[in-house]
Amino acid sequence: MRGKRYGAMLFASVFLAGGLAFAVEPAPGSAKALFEAKCSICHPLSRPLGKTKDRKGWTATVTRMQKVNGCPITDEEAQRIIGYLVAERGPKGN
Ligand code: HEC
Repeated sequence: MRGKRYGAMLFASVFLAGGLAFAVEPAPGSAKALFEAKCSICHPLSRPLGKTKDRKGWTATVTRMQKVNGCPITDEEAQRIIGYLVAERGPKGN
């Protein structure tokens, strides 16, 4: 009986810790995870998250990060990050 109880508690704490980690860490492979991993290499995420730009603006910024500043992303990844930023930090009501 002792073992069973301990097992249940262990399960509960692993489950809780897992749930918490999940809430903080976005799903791997999501555009958000990609953005957070790649766009925090040189400056804090507040740098892009503090701005509001339309698709044209985010395309210009992300392309500059990639081609000029050296952000290690493929063109496909750049497109996904642009889509994420337009959704999160696009013009209001858009
Ligand atoms: C290799 C380093 C590096 C990486 C990686 C990087 N940046 Fe930057 N970022 C910079 C530098 C250097 C500046 C300041 C010079 C400039 O604006 O180009 C900057 C400035 C910025 C600015 C402020 C200027 C503006 O145009 O509003 C934003 C927003 C930004 N980065 C977004 C991003 C995003 C989004 C990503 C991920 C796709 C990213 N950065 C990844 C180096 C980087």
